[in-house]
Amino acid sequence: MKNKTAIYFLIAALSALLLGVFFGLFASLQYILPDFLKEYIPFNKMRPFHVTTVISWIILCATGSIYFFITQVEGIPLFSKKLSKIHFVIFMLTAIGIYISFLTGKMEGREYLAYTPILTIPILIGWFLFGINYFKTIRKNVKNWPVYYWMWGTGIVFMIYHLSEAHFWLIPSFREHFIRDISVQWKSYGSFVGSWNMLVYGTAIYLMSKIKKDIYLARGKTVFFFYFLGLTNLMFGWAHHTYIIPSQPWIRYVAYGISMTEWVVLAHIIYTWMKSLSAEDKKKYCMVFLFLKAADFWIFLNIIIALLFSIPAINFFTHGTHITVAHSMGTTIGINTTILLASVFFIVQKALPKFEITSVFLKRNYYVFNGMLFFFFTTLLYAGVKRSNWMYFTKDVLFSEMQESLFTTYIAFFIFGIGLVISIVIFAIILIKALLKALKS
Ligand code: HEM
Repeated sequence: MKNKTAIYFLIAALSALLLGVFFGLFASLQYILPDFLKEYIPFNKMRPFHVTTVISWIILCATGSIYFFITQVEGIPLFSKKLSKIHFVIFMLTAIGIYISFLTGKMEGREYLAYTPILTIPILIGWFLFGINYFKTIRKNVKNWPVYYWMWGTGIVFMIYHLSEAHFWLIPSFREHFIRDISVQWKSYGSFVGSWNMLVYGTAIYLMSKIKKDIYLARGKTVFFFYFLGLTNLMFGWAHHTYIIPSQPWIRYVAYGISMTEWVVLAHIIYTWMKSLSAEDKKKYCMVFLFLKAADFWIFLNIIIALLFSIPAINFFTHGTHITVAHSMGTTIGINTTILLASVFFIVQKALPKFEITSVFLKRNYYVFNGMLFFFFTTLLYAGVKRSNWMYFTKDVLFSEMQESLFTTYIAFFIFGIGLVISIVIFAIILIKALLKALKS
């Protein structure tokens, strides 16, 4: 293989997925046994270890996929191979820095970016290098860009801006004004997620257009409508994340309407694509097809939940409960992770044409993954409803009593979590092995 950096990114991504799900499993065990590993990694550290590592999975996998598609599938030489290598090395060194920062308790950052803020500088440098390489490569070699090039380019540019914006709180004039501070913080997180969604959804459209061998799928009106909707959502969709902040209700309703429509359109694009695919293509790209089908199903399920809890009266009761966690994990596993696993299966098939894709074992594992995720997700929803009930509708019940009443639910969550972890580990190991083989080919 001529350009190995893409594969390095993908192997790093799958390793982050492996590590990340174990941190998640340990965090869920700490719900049941609060003293488990408490001396070394208590829950308040285990959670950022988990969240940062699984977010890295999403970002590294999307990045590796884009590098691979451009160089290996499209056959476009990168503007600079050296920049892509430096990009990879910077991200790996920063990952080590983040873990050291967590282990040594240097967690001055906030929420999803809890590591020491100085580490954001190398991350931004990495994104800049990626941006330079991406635009210099594509501008010179591609005319009349299909939508996925717009989506990836937009994702990179906005990622740089919103990652910086998520650190505006370091500037005293932001930090000292409570409402401004909270608004900018949640706005930046919403848009940060919107930026990686651009990379991931662009990847989904790329896969669909390549499998169907139909470039129109990536140049038609629907996909460009979807792109502009996604862009609007990226810029304004954050407003429905800020229910606690006093703002004009219509702003939230518009933001909420846009994000729901974005999902409906994506679900429609995937559904129409699935229906139009020949039996031969479905078989040839069996795992890619199945994972995109799963993404479609999870979009549908998440729309229902999001529709419900975006209603202000309901949101009031769900805020700060496991229902929000169900929404975050339902989308990052059910939508992002499924699309990215589809992408890695596609890449492995391209890099190793002899890879056994129709294996019954892989298919069975796919159904275990979806089944476990479904129960994992519903258990979280149930825990959320019980906690909300305790918060708003019961009197004289202590927090510890409520936690005790959730004990069985937490055990169920842990057991479904084990099932989910096993299925993910199986996919990750099979894919890492195949990618290592591809490196040698
Ligand atoms: C690809 C796999 C996964 C992804 C992408 C993922 C993503 C996330 C995200 C984004 C959050 C933050 C939730 C929020 O703040 O609203 C979270 C929290 C969490 N996840 Fe995961 N997760 C994954 C797998 C798992 C697994 C397998 C388990 C357990 C077996 C798990 C257990 C947890 C726990 C316990 C929390 C903390 C919830 C809390 O704050 O109480 N996760 N995960």
